[in-house]
Amino acid sequence: MEATGAASQPSAPQTTHPAVAPLAFLLGKWRGEGEGSFPTISSFRYGEELLFSHHPSKPVISYTQKTWKTASGEPMHAESGYWRPRPDGSVDVVIAQSTGLAEVQKGSFDAEKKTVTLQSELVGNASKVKQITRTFQVADGELSYVVQMATITTSLQPHLKALLRRI
Ligand code: HEM
Repeated sequence: MEATGAASQPSAPQTTHPAVAPLAFLLGKWRGEGEGSFPTISSFRYGEELLFSHHPSKPVISYTQKTWKTASGEPMHAESGYWRPRPDGSVDVVIAQSTGLAEVQKGSFDAEKKTVTLQSELVGNASKVKQITRTFQVADGELSYVVQMATITTSLQPHLKALLRRI
């Protein structure tokens, strides 16, 4: 019989870098729908795909997101970045948005509750946005998140809420 990687190892093969393991609940491709709102705009619905990927030799998760108009499929916002979980339960995240805005986020995660909470430390190249928070939760195989923002005219309020399934 052909030997598999798993069979030739004394224990299960390492598929996740130890630093990334506590955030393994995020890994994979997710697709779903969200709703955008803010006191200054009309609310809207969008389709979304998220990809959290990593290589077992690197202590970092690569992140890409794309969104589209639900009715037409026309592309909307996109972003990508890197997530670095730290041994103390904190996580450093950098995100570049298709609008040109750049985020440095710091936060914490709970591997058992499968939650991540991020708060912007720096929002760069933004004409209106002062602050961004992001919370993620994985439960029953679904990933949900809420993105809030504060702008020059409006205090911290939800802008995006979405629910995605692993594909
Ligand atoms: C509006 C920021 C993500 C779609 C806005 C505004 C800001 C903003 C500052 C204008 C609000 C105002 O004028 O008071 C952000 C930030 C995001 C984000 C910081 C991520 C952290 C997204 C995503 C989508 C989206 C993912 C689409 C799926 C829209 C739309 C508007 C809007 C459709 C209304 C535009 C209009 O009415 O002219 N966003 N956005 N945004 N955003 Fe976002």
